[in-house]
Amino acid sequence: MLSIVKGPYLQWPTLDSVTVMWETSVEAAAEVSVWDTQPVHSGLNGRARTLEETERRVTADRPGLIHKVILTGLSPDTSYHYRARSSAGSEEAASGLFPLKTAVAYETPFAFAVTSETGGYGDEGIDRRLFARIARYRPEFLLLVGDAVRRGNDYEDWDRFLFAPGRELFAHTPFYLCPGNHEEDASWLYRFTASPAPQYCYSFDYGNAHFTGLDSTRGLSYRDGNPVPTGAADGCAPGAAQYEFLKEDLRASRAVWKIVFFHYPPYVSGDYEVEAMRGLCPVLEEGGADLVFNSHTIVYERSHPIRAGRLDGQKGIIYVVAGGAGACPEWFHPRRAWHTAQALAVPHFVQVAIAGPRLELNAIDEEGRLFDTLILHKPG
Ligand SMILES: [Fe+2]
Repeated sequence: MLSIVKGPYLQWPTLDSVTVMWETSVEAAAEVSVWDTQPVHSGLNGRARTLEETERRVTADRPGLIHKVILTGLSPDTSYHYRARSSAGSEEAASGLFPLKTAVAYETPFAFAVTSETGGYGDEGIDRRLFARIARYRPEFLLLVGDAVRRGNDYEDWDRFLFAPGRELFAHTPFYLCPGNHEEDASWLYRFTASPAPQYCYSFDYGNAHFTGLDSTRGLSYRDGNPVPTGAADGCAPGAAQYEFLKEDLRASRAVWKIVFFHYPPYVSGDYEVEAMRGLCPVLEEGGADLVFNSHTIVYERSHPIRAGRLDGQKGIIYVVAGGAGACPEWFHPRRAWHTAQALAVPHFVQVAIAGPRLELNAIDEEGRLFDTLILHKPG
């Protein structure tokens, strides 16, 4: 029997396109309808309405189980509505009607959210309320900094820890996932996401910011419980492919803000710091990165500004561990490090609002309480 088992969810928004993905229970054809949207102001019942005559239908190239339909020719910073539809023989399955929005132009303020560790370590994994809270902050997109599932090779995990709890949010808010060790470099990671090849590392522009996601698990393997360098060519160690990719990527960007995200934290207090990742810091510093998001430690932690391995209030980079969706506070080894500015071991997410030269970062807990704020300002 045909049904939609994951999604629909959004991926890879650009100024003129958005990718819609979903999975069906059996092999099926796939089609997305997209409509222009008109706001309607009618008191308490006010809501956007689709303009029926603007409907466009885009069909997937071939039938399948996991569907990917790229909607092109859209306008920047514009809201539309869409509906995903699949058919197999005489059966048909259609999603609800959801809004989507293209990326904003360079000069337009925007906001995004950051979380990770939805796979968690408790029996329940993610605190499901977090995704609902994230939605209320209306981010344009979500960065997931790895360990979104507990075992990436376990197909069921992807629904249990990510797509089921995130269903409502992902229907209208695209997410970018960078791999953590728990993704296990599984084929599902590549099949369920739509970042460009090689998919595990990529970069994109959004507004006046440049984002670079890396797979920090490549080139490291566990020995005696600690990740140690393997010398793999696709790793992040000096000279390896992702090191060179990041160097060139940051050098080429003229964005006002440069934000890099990868799973293993070069700086975090407690027990899960991955010191080998500090090999990337000179590249981040030379490339002008402002903020780095990491995870792996199930805690919130914001560093002081760091450059060349020491405090630098003028040119330092701030490292934020946003390992919060499945946080279990008892996992936190309560020891502060010299680089720790703020730490709190509670389920949380981070919300970042960028408006020209001003960046505001807020950390919010499971009850919606704001517990940390950082404001950065670029000199004019
Ligand atoms: Fe991890």
